Amino acid sequence: MDYQFDQSEAYQKLTELSNKYAKLSLKEVFNSDSERAKKFSRSWKDCYLDFSKHILNEEILSELLHLAEEAGLSRGIEAMFSGEKINVNENRAVLHTALRDLPSAVRLYEGENVMPAVHEVLDRMEDFTKKVHQGVFLGASQKKITDVVNIGIGGSDLGPVMVSEALKSEGSKLQVHYVSNVDGFHLEQTLRGLNPENTLFVIVSKTFTTQETMTNALAAKAWISEHLGEGAIAQHFVAVSTNIPAAKGFGIEEAHVFGFWDWVGGRYSLWGAVGLSIMLEYGAAVFRELLEGAREMDEHFRSTSFDQNLPVLLALIGIWNNNFLHHPTLAILPYAQGLHRFPAFLQQADMESNGKHCNKLGKRLSYQSGPVIWGEAGTNGQHAFYQLIHQGTQVIPVDFIAYVRPTSKYVDHHQKLLANFIAQSEALMNGINFDDVCIELNEQGMPPHQVLQLAPFKVFDGNRPSTSMLWETLNPRNLGALIAMYEHKIFVQGWVWDVYSYDQWGVELGKKLAQRILPQIKGESSLAHDSSTTELIRRSKKIKAS
Ligand code: F6P
Repeated sequence: MDYQFDQSEAYQKLTELSNKYAKLSLKEVFNSDSERAKKFSRSWKDCYLDFSKHILNEEILSELLHLAEEAGLSRGIEAMFSGEKINVNENRAVLHTALRDLPSAVRLYEGENVMPAVHEVLDRMEDFTKKVHQGVFLGASQKKITDVVNIGIGGSDLGPVMVSEALKSEGSKLQVHYVSNVDGFHLEQTLRGLNPENTLFVIVSKTFTTQETMTNALAAKAWISEHLGEGAIAQHFVAVSTNIPAAKGFGIEEAHVFGFWDWVGGRYSLWGAVGLSIMLEYGAAVFRELLEGAREMDEHFRSTSFDQNLPVLLALIGIWNNNFLHHPTLAILPYAQGLHRFPAFLQQADMESNGKHCNKLGKRLSYQSGPVIWGEAGTNGQHAFYQLIHQGTQVIPVDFIAYVRPTSKYVDHHQKLLANFIAQSEALMNGINFDDVCIELNEQGMPPHQVLQLAPFKVFDGNRPSTSMLWETLNPRNLGALIAMYEHKIFVQGWVWDVYSYDQWGVELGKKLAQRILPQIKGESSLAHDSSTTELIRRSKKIKAS
């Protein structure tokens, strides 16, 4: 492959453009072009994407689109959708889009259409969900299941829990709880108040070997055995895994193991069996709507020209901010309480995918790859860290996300929420200069010497970039589309940066060392470490059960 991001023509050109337009003033470009918002925004179904408040112009955008061409992005998209093994280091395809495709579609993996198997699992999930809801599937003491505890971590937790929170306005059919942390506090607090007779555990682990998940699953198993006897396990546990023998070995009946495939990455897996807890909470119709929204976004991504393609545009703007304007983080700020776990979900999706230091040839990168993703629901963030976004010394590009329709009965709340959503991007862009601050303070009657003293602290530089995404309503379909849009954005960035986005070797070393340290904490072995690690181990040996 000849393409190298930082050797490409577009890279050189974009570097020049970043120098040429280093002083581009957003305020001025808006003043001089009344069509700017129109030129730098796109609409797709229920989504309005406004990227006009970025340090961009037509020349820059056209060069970013040129970069996508030079990177061979069309070929990459086709390679992903057609089941090529683009996860080369793990010799796997990347086919999570098949999980949300239609039964009539043909999606090939190693020459075989995966769609019948995908829909067979979905149908089994639906059948099981109905049985639980209708009281056909009961606990061991013939009691109805009222509570589900999803035990999983990373992709086996963050996607489902994020969706669970986002769709609360749909009305839950069951109480669903999520336990991920190997801190026993998480499990203990969750089990407190639950009745084992009415509780179903969904053990979600692609590998069925993850330490945190297996530790929590075994403790949950002991809890059920203790209260209902060992014979009750089969009625209180189901599993989601690609490792079906291990799930069966745990004591789960084969009929209650919902499978998926190694061509689905953990962080891209909520669309299939990993979404079982979502289906149990909201029912199959809602889950299928979620899939449909994602499928529509897949279609848009696959078939739309890059200059109209939402994920591609988001990705290219991110590359511009990261690699050319040198802003290494991205804040995700949803003005929707339902999306309060969305930043955490995206942290895994994005940072585990593109937090890489080698290109596809194994050569160290001489440029930045994945940005730091962080965020919080607005308006909570406004009263926490927005100070730094407005006046800190670093420029933080922002994705604002909001919905026109409220998900509560409180219309007045929603108008205030939207007013804040809009005001923030305007404030970031316009800022307020020294002279205007002085005028304002003078008008307030402040003595002139005090005005001069205070004014520097009240200056906002402005010219801070943001994307505003305004959707019609936060429903399952739009949520599916939103998630898929970010998944594809991540794909595009990884492709352009020429990194492998679908492996995650960076999480392995810590796991391996924890396995070595555990017996030392238990006092079963002793190994040489540096003095810091040795002292931490010595102190940790004092653990006593609380
Ligand atoms: O720690 C990384 C990771 O492998 C993630 O990629 C994955 O989502 C998570 O652990 C959980 O893995 P599993 O589903 O196999 O338990």
